[in-house]
Amino acid sequence: MLDLLIHNATLPDGRTAMSVAVQEGRIVEVTAGLMAPAHEVLDAQGMLLSPPFVDAHFHMDATLSYGLPRVNQSGTLLEGIALWGELKPLLTQDALIERALTYCDWAVAKGLLAIRTHVDVCDPRLLAVQALLEVKKRVAPYIDLQLVVFPQDGVLRGAQGPQQHMDNLVRALDLGVDVVGGIPHFERTMADGALSVKLLCELAARRGLRVDMHCDESDDPHSRHVETLAFETQRLGLQGRVTGSHLTSMHSMDNYYVSKLLPLMAEAQLQVVANPLINITLQGRHDSYPKRRGMTRVPELLAAGINVAFGHDCVMDPWYSLGSGDMLEVAHMGLHVAQMTSQAAMRQCFDAVTVNPARVLGLERYGLAGGCHADFVLLQAGNPVEAIRLRAPRLKVFRRGRLLSETAPATSALHLPGRPGLTSMMP
Ligand code: FE2
Repeated sequence: MLDLLIHNATLPDGRTAMSVAVQEGRIVEVTAGLMAPAHEVLDAQGMLLSPPFVDAHFHMDATLSYGLPRVNQSGTLLEGIALWGELKPLLTQDALIERALTYCDWAVAKGLLAIRTHVDVCDPRLLAVQALLEVKKRVAPYIDLQLVVFPQDGVLRGAQGPQQHMDNLVRALDLGVDVVGGIPHFERTMADGALSVKLLCELAARRGLRVDMHCDESDDPHSRHVETLAFETQRLGLQGRVTGSHLTSMHSMDNYYVSKLLPLMAEAQLQVVANPLINITLQGRHDSYPKRRGMTRVPELLAAGINVAFGHDCVMDPWYSLGSGDMLEVAHMGLHVAQMTSQAAMRQCFDAVTVNPARVLGLERYGLAGGCHADFVLLQAGNPVEAIRLRAPRLKVFRRGRLLSETAPATSALHLPGRPGLTSMMP
């Protein structure tokens, strides 16, 4: 007997009236109109059943710290970095864990069941690393949490010399952090940035780890660290295991240079994460008018065969006061900023918060097919584009076939003469 049988679901690929059969935490069959005995049967009523949302880029050590020790008055990146510097000495492990667990509660309610978070390793106490390793353990039954060592202040830029932050970073990897990060555009010189990419990729190759660097998160059209990242990936045989996050400088680069860069990135099977909510608010701040959008070239990267995911980056922290763990809000912003309004492109924006980030994280058994984990979200929407339009309620969230969260449908009661009594904004 099946554990769970879902009837009458619409899938992201457009198939309708589908049944999904679940046994022992796995999907055993996805087919139309399946009849079989099951302990629990759920009628999806034609609503969209999606694999869970995945966030490929987040900062869980800073999340929900909004207002600590004070609010970012200007809302700029530089005041955010200064504020994070003020907050770091005041952090405690218990408070970090508590805020991260609260965020994970929000994530589950939004159907977000896998998160890659960068963790600042410039504090020699490695307080945030230890806190997030504890959080990773505690949320493991319901969220796949992947940690990246992130030298926020530059890996070669320590006040006590270039080994200071590198030593912290290596210690964090020894404690069990999963992925090697970096921030080449924040090193003292372009040459130091390139050296940091080389050293960090070599470290990842030696340890058999994936790489995910904040790379060229600037409006500088001459920044070249993406090129170096692609080169080192190729040189060290790390194809498919390296991600460039942000890449906002690509927005401002010369078109001829980008036409050379894209094939190099594709050849290295570099993966890309754009962070639309944060890029549109933090980039272009030195411009008068016109103001650059500052998000990387998502449609062009996709057209070059490069895997692109959208990340949330920040929620209620020194850099960004808003957010709630809603990856449909992220997709909604990405769609607008990249002008991805064709039918196919809007559909790609849904992939950019589901299957594409799952590839970035290297998640196994992810998806709606026989043999995959029984992890899925039932949305109050008829298709992926409607889900983005409505930032649709997550009616039910399942992991390994077990119900984790339920949200009541969003329906407004109307008191209008001669009009229907209810609306859900679905024509
Ligand atoms: Fe980031």
